[in-house]
Amino acid sequence: MKKFNLSVAFLLFLGGYCLQAQERIPQVEALLEKMTLEEKIGQLNLLTPGGGIATGSVVSEDVEAKIKAGNVGGVFGVSSPERVRQAQELAVKNSRLGIPLLIGSDVIHGYKTTFPIPLGLSSSWDMDLIRETAKVAAKEATADGINWNFSPMVDISRDPRWGRVAEGAGEDAYLGSQVARAMVQGYQQEDLSEPNTMIATVKHMALYGAPEGGRDYNRVDMSRTKMFNEYLPPYKAAVDAGVGSVMTSFNDIDGVPATGNKWLLTDLLRERWGFNGFVVSDYTSVNEMIAHGMGDLQDVSAMALKAGLDMDMVGEGFLTTLKKSVEEGKVSEEEITTAARRILEAKHKLGLLDDPYKYSDTSRPETDILTKENRDLARLAATQSFVLLKKKDNILPVSKKAKIALIGPLANNQSNMLGTWAPTGDFTLSVPVLEGFRNVAPSAKITYAKGANITNDTALAKKVNVFGSKVEISNESSEQLLQGALKVAKASDVVVAVIGEASEMSGEAASRSNIQIPESQKRLLRELVKTGKPIAVVLMSGRPLDISEEMEMPVSILQVWHPGVEAGNAIADVVFGYVNPSGKLTMSWPRNVGQVPVYYGERTTGRPAPTQEFEKFKSNYLDVKNSPLLPFGHGLSYTNFQYSEIKASKENLRSVDSLKISTTVTNTGKLEGQEVVQLYIHDKVRSITPPKKQLIDFKKISLAPGESKTVEFQVTVEDLKFYNSQLEHVAEPGEFEFFVGGTSDCEMQGSFTLTE
Ligand code: BGC
Repeated sequence: MKKFNLSVAFLLFLGGYCLQAQERIPQVEALLEKMTLEEKIGQLNLLTPGGGIATGSVVSEDVEAKIKAGNVGGVFGVSSPERVRQAQELAVKNSRLGIPLLIGSDVIHGYKTTFPIPLGLSSSWDMDLIRETAKVAAKEATADGINWNFSPMVDISRDPRWGRVAEGAGEDAYLGSQVARAMVQGYQQEDLSEPNTMIATVKHMALYGAPEGGRDYNRVDMSRTKMFNEYLPPYKAAVDAGVGSVMTSFNDIDGVPATGNKWLLTDLLRERWGFNGFVVSDYTSVNEMIAHGMGDLQDVSAMALKAGLDMDMVGEGFLTTLKKSVEEGKVSEEEITTAARRILEAKHKLGLLDDPYKYSDTSRPETDILTKENRDLARLAATQSFVLLKKKDNILPVSKKAKIALIGPLANNQSNMLGTWAPTGDFTLSVPVLEGFRNVAPSAKITYAKGANITNDTALAKKVNVFGSKVEISNESSEQLLQGALKVAKASDVVVAVIGEASEMSGEAASRSNIQIPESQKRLLRELVKTGKPIAVVLMSGRPLDISEEMEMPVSILQVWHPGVEAGNAIADVVFGYVNPSGKLTMSWPRNVGQVPVYYGERTTGRPAPTQEFEKFKSNYLDVKNSPLLPFGHGLSYTNFQYSEIKASKENLRSVDSLKISTTVTNTGKLEGQEVVQLYIHDKVRSITPPKKQLIDFKKISLAPGESKTVEFQVTVEDLKFYNSQLEHVAEPGEFEFFVGGTSDCEMQGSFTLTE
């Protein structure tokens, strides 16, 4: 008996040792051994020198002193190989242990080569393309010294009032998960120690995209089943793809701010999902827990650490209070060691512990940044992100032989092309639409007129212009601008009206309660329509807009988001028909803001509304239909596609089997085109109310005129799973309907049964 006990103890010891040997990195452990409590706390501190960098100095005084003192684990807002080398030297040559810094940045949709805003990129439904844009962003950013990126933002958003919908992939958990994975793969690739890869950060954990009233930073309240089924999957997909860090969100969850939420950061993220990277707060979100009502700075810092937060962005609560909390027994040194270990492990993964200057190669910016290939990719990505919302006659594509009136406040504008959250980009390098038209159609007769200001509301303009002038109110009166445009329009064969939102009318802290095109531009369009000329509207925005009025006008509408550095060229490629638009919306567009949130995957009710007419005592409105103006998955083409022979390979699916759902898609028009073929299911009977429709797969195909292709989807029990009220991931036997088409608004095509 004694012998048995001894060998069990020995095995346990050995097991523990192996576990430790497998998980712990000797280089990191050796460092931790040497570190004082203060030095460990220093690793948890993330600072930004802010404006100092932009104006040329390496780092501002106190940041420099703190780095030298070993009080900083990372910085952001510092770039270029030279400056990053200087920053690293401060740490390596001056701090006692010489531990290099993480160098962070918000590389949201490209670094210097700015790609379309993420909501636009997601509309391409092309994961290879999205992965490639992230790869190029990583190559450029690392060439400029960055080793850690605060992207991808994967917050599911169904409320277009919220300005940050521009930064994500829209309303759907399945599509959002694909995009999350593709971006993490693009930034990190196979090996983080390669000099052209950087650590990705999935953000903002969690549910940040569901703020009450669509108001930024607002509270969030949501059931667990909704979280697990509809909002959490993209974060989990990023974790499963090996994302190196996670950023917390500003909002609360179940009344506890995410930054101090142990259930979220430890029970779910680490224990249930197995995340083993590090967790960073959002900008001062530790300190903001004071305003949330969680206590003073010492309380909230201790709360965040104990919840599982490893790094404190900007607020310095960790730096200034954690030691005291250890002394008072409020946190343990072990908890601080654990967080410091995670930061050091990230530095190890990047290879920084061996070579602190590996991102300081001064030859790289020239060869890697803003190359022709990178700009070509930006142009391609932009064309793929455009969504043809409405077709009227054959206004689009426009003939190069036509006399073209190019009109609108965004038609010859450079400052808004990059879109929101492009702080690393340079708008002066972007191609305005007029220039793009001249590049692509040099012999075309193009006349430009501004026609209107983006908005005449000077108070709004001031709020939008915080990062530089995006809205310029002309010295000419509105009437003069309008008359100038009407004159140009009347003398033309076709009008291309480039209108919409300024880039900073969406993005962070840019919520809107009225999501229409600004009135100054609505008026311009109404007057242009009165000329009777064919009109193609090129619409820019960072969010779904309420364009109910414009959809009724006799115009074609091409949605181009904010297209990035190659804006004008990409728009010209599509307007002149060199590229056929193929994007599909990833967020539903409402008929009016009162319908919000409106999304295709809403769960069933007991009193479903009739599809068209109002009916008393049904779930509908007196004054508007339930359906969105433009559904998720919608997007037209210059050609037409016909779906036929939609069928399932069998009627019953056993849990160990799979079945095939297939369809034939034919290009019935005269131009080559791409179509995103979408597969949705509806679980007819299950233990919690199911979504009316749920995307489970899609394929993007290309078809020559007259060509047909058969598209096959493999369906397994995994595709039918959901989180039940015990939060178990299960598929329940019973009947499933399926729907196939080029929009979420497609018809039911058949059903199959999942058997035990
Ligand atoms: C944003 C984050 C961003 C951070 C650092 C915050 O205001 O919410 O998305 O990564 O700033 O710039």
